[in-house]
Amino acid sequence: KSCVLAYSGGLDTSVILGWLQDQGYEVHAVYVDLGQPCEDRAAIKKKAEDGGAASYRAIDVREELCRDFAFPVLSWQAKYEQIYLLGTSIARPLISKVCLQVAREVGATAYAHGATGKGNDQCRFQLAAEALDPKIEMIAPWRIKAFRQAFPGRTELIAYCEQKNIPVKASTSKPYSSDENVLHISYEAGQLEELDVNGVELVDFGMGVSPQEAPDKSETVSIGFVSGVPTTLNGKKVSALDMVEGLNTIAGRNGVGRIDMVENRFVGMKSRGVYESPGMTVLYNALMNVEQLTMDRDLMHLRDRMAPEVAEMVYYGFWYTPKMDALMAFMNEARKPVTGDVTLKLYKGNISIESRTSPNSLYDAEIATMEGGGSYNQDDAEGFLRIQGLPSRVQGTVKPRSF
Ligand code: ARG
Ligand code: SIN
Repeated sequence: KSCVLAYSGGLDTSVILGWLQDQGYEVHAVYVDLGQPCEDRAAIKKKAEDGGAASYRAIDVREELCRDFAFPVLSWQAKYEQIYLLGTSIARPLISKVCLQVAREVGATAYAHGATGKGNDQCRFQLAAEALDPKIEMIAPWRIKAFRQAFPGRTELIAYCEQKNIPVKASTSKPYSSDENVLHISYEAGQLEELDVNGVELVDFGMGVSPQEAPDKSETVSIGFVSGVPTTLNGKKVSALDMVEGLNTIAGRNGVGRIDMVENRFVGMKSRGVYESPGMTVLYNALMNVEQLTMDRDLMHLRDRMAPEVAEMVYYGFWYTPKMDALMAFMNEARKPVTGDVTLKLYKGNISIESRTSPNSLYDAEIATMEGGGSYNQDDAEGFLRIQGLPSRVQGTVKPRSF
């Protein structure tokens, strides 16, 4: 029997690598390189090889993650429950895609991952994998009773690693768990489960400084968009990955992009999460400023009504679905005119707008001006309001409101 394992080098997947072999599997370890800012690639490779992996691959999909996954979601201005930028959620379908490509290559029929049975990640891994390969056999050890009985807690996981000579790095002693990629780092569980613990004070952030530690001077950054896609950073044309990484550095050093929230998981429970996504926070803001100039009013309002739906689908893991394909086709059309440049000012965690410009700007100072003149005729508002107000006048006559 042969399977692929979405391998991160963390405690759980290290144990799972051994356990799958104990169950008679030949295990092909796949480290999907999503630009994890704090992970030691060489140590992870060594750990997988020492742990008996039949093969090990580190597959670099950093550009694809930014360009084909995060940026389309950005176009939608999609945020889960108002503020979460979906950094973990959107990476999961890509991890599944890469693992299934490896499975095809090595002839594996099963796909294993280390997500628990209580979370969102299992949903995203599995829903994506089954959409791509309906025949794939999913192995989620944390949903298998025998595995949970063998490993009731961290103590047993660590003991197993020691017995098998798998190194357990000291940093796993942090009082919470994290998930990282180039888009963000998430922190949950452990001490963060106590809601009276200040999350942003507890967490040892990996991508930037706190607003308090940020410089006392603001920093400006310019971003150019072509049809909704970020393409230039401070005047230079850059790849999607360089855009995100460059902005992580700039926004990170100015304390931008930290949040602490309680969110609704797909499996029903509420859970507490702390996130840092410096670069993407700036991109959402910058894009909004170009949309304000270039996007038709009713189209923007329609997009804004559907954005929470897109966020929910990404969060739940319904990425490879006809509904998502159709929503993305809509967005491809809607964002066509969203071209322009924005200069933002970052200061101690805050973002403000310095200037914006677009060749497609619908903003017409002639029309908007409070001064006289222009092509707007105030007389026209007379009839506009007479008709808009008709239902209210009838209501007010038939059923007067007390006031
Ligand atoms: N709550 C976030 C989400 O559902 C982050 C999940 C982090 N996952 C992890 N394995 N640490 O997208
Ligand atoms: C997990 O349960 O594996 C991590 C948290 C989540 O998926 O929501």
